[in-house]
Amino acid sequence: MTWYPVADLADFEGRPVLAREAGGQALALYRVDGAVHATQGRCTHAGALLAEGEVVEGYIECPAHYGLFEIPTGRAQGGPVCRDLAVYPVRVEEGRVWVEVVPPGA
Ligand code: FES
Repeated sequence: MTWYPVADLADFEGRPVLAREAGGQALALYRVDGAVHATQGRCTHAGALLAEGEVVEGYIECPAHYGLFEIPTGRAQGGPVCRDLAVYPVRVEEGRVWVEVVPPGA
């Protein structure tokens, strides 16, 4: 596993979810109640970009078919989604957001 710098906290201004990439993987980053979380970037249902969805009370609502996932755990919550999202460790240091993912080829 490798830590990658993927964003600054300031990037969340006006938008609680961001699309990012680390180690060749698409990610969605969220800032919810002051905490930062990372999940896989694409929905487990049909691959829509979650960063284009809406954050609603701790959940990300997929923009394609409105499936819901609990952001901190990635747990699928009804609708057309039944497979959980992968979640990744996050740390914040001096305003920079780091995410730990498996690097390509590892
Ligand atoms: S692609 Fe996300 S709910 Fe269908």
